Amino acid sequence: MKKVAVLTSGGDAPGMNPAIRAVVRRGIFQGLDVFGVQHGFEGLMKGNFISMDLGSVGDIIHRGGTILRSARSERFRTEEGQIEALQKLNEAEIDGLIVIGGDGSFRGAEKLTEKGFPTIGIPGTIDNDICGTDYTIGFDTAVNTVVEAIDKIRDTASSHERTYVIEVMGRDAGDIALWSGLCVGAESIIIPEEVCDMDDIVARLEQGNKRGKKHSIIVVAEGVCRGDEIAKAIEQTTGLETRVTVLGHLQRGGSPSAFDRMIASQMGAKAIDLLLDGHKGVMVGLKGGNLIHSPFAEAAKVQHKLDMSLYHLARSLSI
Ligand code: F6P
Repeated sequence: MKKVAVLTSGGDAPGMNPAIRAVVRRGIFQGLDVFGVQHGFEGLMKGNFISMDLGSVGDIIHRGGTILRSARSERFRTEEGQIEALQKLNEAEIDGLIVIGGDGSFRGAEKLTEKGFPTIGIPGTIDNDICGTDYTIGFDTAVNTVVEAIDKIRDTASSHERTYVIEVMGRDAGDIALWSGLCVGAESIIIPEEVCDMDDIVARLEQGNKRGKKHSIIVVAEGVCRGDEIAKAIEQTTGLETRVTVLGHLQRGGSPSAFDRMIASQMGAKAIDLLLDGHKGVMVGLKGGNLIHSPFAEAAKVQHKLDMSLYHLARSLSI
């Protein structure tokens, strides 16, 4: 193995840059030529390779987003798109590809490996919805961003004695909602992994109200419904003045947390070592504090599981 390439794909996540840095620097440390692919799989099909040196990843460890840019490519889902990408990799004499992204990106990487090309995945998404790892790169920063935002909203909630419904990202997973909801002491946390029981939400609000609590925070994961649907239902049943904040894409931005930089650095270096050891079609993960790797196919078979003990903890603490 002499030449390797790295790309970022799908929604960007804080920590992708330190992961790119780790891939490039570990690759060079191991005597490889490293190339970056711009604009994810879309760029791969066009042969958008750029040579990376030590300086090309200088001063990025603390930056959000991805210096390689990212894309969600429909064309790469097709057989023709995949063959085009393989041709470009072969023309550039690349021997291995590292893909930083979510499960959709790994399905793409798997297609290349099925066609004989070595690929390794690094989980990079704020959603934390990937099997085979306890944490994805970007999740910790996103949770911290949400917590910071809700702490600010709480000031207004308390000053105006209002109920606030905060809608957070996470696609079909409730991890961001659960972790941030627990960390801000939300009265209710609404996640796709649990039935949304409006009677329970209202009962908890009224119970708080009775003991003099005049403001409340409810966190809802986008995978359940829109925040304003919850707000409308609350206002109609309780008469409490309720407002909605949709945090949106600010959850994907910002300087990566120390934890995200740490796992990005570990996973990036590990991906290079796995390629050099002859692995392909596997994703790097962090399980119980240990770096592991598992086949894409295996990870795809199992559904990501949220730690429901945190949900019950949050409920018991916000009575
Ligand atoms: O997967 C990351 C994520 O931010 C999800 O939480 C969200 O549902 C989705 O991407 C939004 O995608 P887009 O930026 O393409 O609108």
